[in-house]
Amino acid sequence: RPPGLVDQFGRVARDLRVSVTDRCNLRCTYCMPAEGLPWMPKAEMLTDEEMLRVIGVFVRDGVTQVRLTGGEPLLRRSIVQLVAGIAALEPRPRIAMTTNGVGLARVAQGLADAGLDRVNVSLDTIDAETFTQLTRRDRLSDVEAGLKAAADAGLTPVKVNAVAMRGINDETVADVLDWCLDRGYELRFIEQMPLDAQHAWDRRDMITADEIRARLSERHTLTPLPAEARGSAPAERFLVDGGPATVGIIASVTAPFCAACDRTRLTADGQVRNCLFSRTETDLRTPLRDGATDDELLDLIRGEMWRKRRGHGIGDPDFVQPDRPMSAIGG
Ligand code: GTP
Ligand code: 5AD
Ligand code: SF4
Repeated sequence: RPPGLVDQFGRVARDLRVSVTDRCNLRCTYCMPAEGLPWMPKAEMLTDEEMLRVIGVFVRDGVTQVRLTGGEPLLRRSIVQLVAGIAALEPRPRIAMTTNGVGLARVAQGLADAGLDRVNVSLDTIDAETFTQLTRRDRLSDVEAGLKAAADAGLTPVKVNAVAMRGINDETVADVLDWCLDRGYELRFIEQMPLDAQHAWDRRDMITADEIRARLSERHTLTPLPAEARGSAPAERFLVDGGPATVGIIASVTAPFCAACDRTRLTADGQVRNCLFSRTETDLRTPLRDGATDDELLDLIRGEMWRKRRGHGIGDPDFVQPDRPMSAIGG
């Protein structure tokens, strides 16, 4: 194996996604059941100190961006200190967060002061009734306040992620776009992937990138940005009505970006995953607690990266959905 966070296909990991908790304060129907899921026992979760130790190993081996995810990352009580700890690492990575935005209004400024650079907020609909049905919680106004606070705190560009779903928000995608354009948020629509805890995903129900684009084009002119500008970004972006505003579509299923993937993951209980759909995990928590050196941890991490498969294989006859639901892997 060559040094660095590389896999057999030559991809290099630069983006570490850290799930800091598997808990959530929403219950999106496409993610988890109404009663929630059996949450990770606290003793199995990495402490802040352990998380920072592992993230430090990653950044010294080439990771340049750390994204904090969940579950809902703001439910980790120490989240502001954790951000400050990451910002103090050498070399300092860029720090981003993917959140549902519910608790963001209160902490956006504190997070920015601690070193958070930007946020992506999940928001699938701007209709209050649909939001409450979809997330099983009446919290749309909190998310709106959270978005505004994030923009005010300079956590920009503020991005909005919307999973497209048939019969739920597919007919209102252009309304969500107009809402985001008015407020200066960069919207991305996402094709739904088989990651729900209930294993109910069905490709036939999925709204495709082409469908989203056609819907948006009924109201706006979309001009694709040049492919070179995309790099390893998951979204294909379009100028809206000549720009400068853009809208993105993340076509993980119909046009996977696996070949350019630069991601790797750490779960809240200290497992490294080389992909959202990884079939293996490498346990770092046990060696960490048994006194492993940084070099020993690094060797384990590199081993996991090396095993990364060419692509997620959704649609292949031998595809298997990960045992962990999305909420315990991190989006
Ligand atoms: P930016 O750096 O701001 O572009 O963030 P991002 O899009 O990488 O992160 P975010 O957490 O906002 O993810 C948005 C969506 O991208 C998620 O909801 C997933 O649907 C999809 N996504 C994130 N990571 C992966 C991945 O490793 N593989 C695939 N197939 N999709 C992913
Ligand atoms: N497919 C695609 N995206 C998903 N998300 C949650 N479940 C899925 C899925 N099955 C999104 C959330 C959030 C991000 C972390 O992942 O809506 O934007
Ligand atoms: Fe929570 Fe995100 Fe799952 Fe919704 S999709 S229940 S916000 S983890």
